[in-house]
Amino acid sequence: MGGFTGLMLSMAPLDQALHDTYFVVAHFHYTMVAGSLFALFGGFYYWAPKWSGVMYNEFRGKLHFWVSLISFNVTFFPQHFLGLAGMPRRYADYPAQFADFNMLSSIGAFTFGITQVLFFLFIVIPVMRGHGEKAAQRPWDAAKGLEWEVPSPAPFHTYETPPKLDETATRVIG
Ligand code: HEM
Ligand code: HEM
Repeated sequence: MGGFTGLMLSMAPLDQALHDTYFVVAHFHYTMVAGSLFALFGGFYYWAPKWSGVMYNEFRGKLHFWVSLISFNVTFFPQHFLGLAGMPRRYADYPAQFADFNMLSSIGAFTFGITQVLFFLFIVIPVMRGHGEKAAQRPWDAAKGLEWEVPSPAPFHTYETPPKLDETATRVIG
């Protein structure tokens, strides 16, 4: 989505109209929230068992993902329409015709924000405190890499001697 709106913005005749409007704000939040922030969430869910030695509650993780994904879209999708209708970026006040989409966007943003507080309280903190089932050495079938060759959490001084690796350099053979 962010890439597609980026393509639209890179067309100079379109960008004459869209530059400095909320369309740009929608574009870059689709890249930076859905791209970077969700990648950080993905990294947390992938490595949390390795860091902490326990599995998080998968249902809560899925709930966090879905509510975040939906509220993220509720926040930023209407901003495309605001931009197309001419609302400039970097304004806190605006004509009444923009109020409805801004309201929708705010509802999405508060939902997104509250969801992240719940993510910290009910997923991150329990994992940091070691609550949950004990994590296996390699909890994910497709996980490749040296960190999955040692117990979870990785022991202090992970390898005392340099490990011998197989030809893929992802498995320890001695
Ligand atoms: C196909 C990929 C992309 C294209 C073609 C593209 C194109 C553009 C264009 C033309 C603008 C300027 C719009 C204007 O102000 O009139 C813009 C703004 C912006 N883009 Fe992208 N973009 C792409 C991907 C990304 C990615 C991956 C990121 C970040 C992770 C990103 C972040 C931003 C930001 C932060 C701005 C606004 C900068 C400012 O504050 O003025 N874009 N993009
Ligand atoms: C869901 C969470 C987020 C919300 C609700 C949000 C909201 C906003 C709002 C309201 C603005 C000001 C728009 C304007 O008046 O022009 C803004 C600007 C911006 N945001 Fe976000 N944002 C979020 C997440 C992020 C993330 C994760 C990043 C970067 C990784 C980011 C990067 C930016 C940038 C670069 C600007 C432009 C600042 C400027 O105009 O100088 N935002 N955001």
